[in-house]
Amino acid sequence: MSRPKILVTHPLFAGVRDLLDSRFETEYWKAPQPMPRPELLERVTGKDGLVCLLSDKINDELLGRATKLRIAATVSVGYDNIDVPACTRHNVTATNTPGVLDDTTADLAWALLMAVARRVVEGDAMIRAGKWTGWEIDQFMGGDVWGKTLGIIGFGRIGQEVARRAAGFKMRILYNSRNRVTLEKEKEFHAAFVDRDTLLRESDFVSLHVPLTPETRHLIDRQAIAKMKPTAYLINTTRGPVVDEAALAEALAARQIAGAGLDVFEREPVVLPALLPMSNVVLTPHIGSGSIETRTNMGLRAAKNVVAFFDGLRPPDALNPELFEKR
Ligand code: NAP
Ligand code: GLV
Repeated sequence: MSRPKILVTHPLFAGVRDLLDSRFETEYWKAPQPMPRPELLERVTGKDGLVCLLSDKINDELLGRATKLRIAATVSVGYDNIDVPACTRHNVTATNTPGVLDDTTADLAWALLMAVARRVVEGDAMIRAGKWTGWEIDQFMGGDVWGKTLGIIGFGRIGQEVARRAAGFKMRILYNSRNRVTLEKEKEFHAAFVDRDTLLRESDFVSLHVPLTPETRHLIDRQAIAKMKPTAYLINTTRGPVVDEAALAEALAARQIAGAGLDVFEREPVVLPALLPMSNVVLTPHIGSGSIETRTNMGLRAAKNVVAFFDGLRPPDALNPELFEKR
């Protein structure tokens, strides 16, 4: 019997390729640049499965051409790149990679928080430029992290790991989410549920962990930023469009808030030029889950979803499980 044909839009990692190659007829996009859309549309035609990245849009345009496609597995937990209802209409199972990147992404949120509050990048740049002339009592004074209030918006897997790390910094933790978690969980994370306005008003650090959906687009807009303390920092490791980047840049320029740590941007890879010269902003290129171990585990998780599907099972991370209920 012929093996299912799988298109993979990146070479991923050796262990992931070993698994996919052992089960499928695989085709990888190996060029250094991301797979261009026309290539994706052409190569996905005739494939039974697709392993893709968050930059690949899985929508009606693609699904209409990929008439043999049965599964699209994104190597990311965020799945705003996938039109899940369209997949369901086309009888294509969609999967993501939840749970394997929570700690690594929470670590990066903390790296940004620490870097911007303690002015790590500015200090590094001054030393590299040969401009450091010696210890000074008022040089690169930042804001304290320990003992402050951390506000977490979106208290799911990653938001909770961000909270867990705050305990060591003796912080007060506030959270706002679509649903309140159990009292046991609130105790475990020493976190108090508050409405979003209270969180914005009282937090010294606001860290965003909601998925990008129509409801969360520009959740942090001009009005929301205006509620933050002038000494507060905004940390965004979720998706760029959750923040109105232009409004944020204006607020930072006017020192309406103290600073920001950003791993994600509204129009990646384009970053709003106004942000680039700002010393009170730390920028990273969407590397939240970017450790060797975690990216490998994400690839494996996506591959295992595809394997499960072709074994006739419901993939563990199916985003449209209703396709299996009909069976
Ligand atoms: P998760 O476990 O689903 O957590 C998301 C949380 O946000 C849930 O508690 C959810 O509430 C809440 N939420 C959803 N809509 C909301 C709204 N309108 N208002 C308030 N809260 C809302 O997801 P996760 O695994 O933590 O991942 C979160 C996001 O992080 C991903 O979607 C992705 O965009 C981003 N991410 C980025 C990187 C990176 O490299 N920078 C890496 C990994 C993930 P419910 O519990 O009610 O659904
Ligand atoms: C990364 O951004 C992810 O959603 O996994």
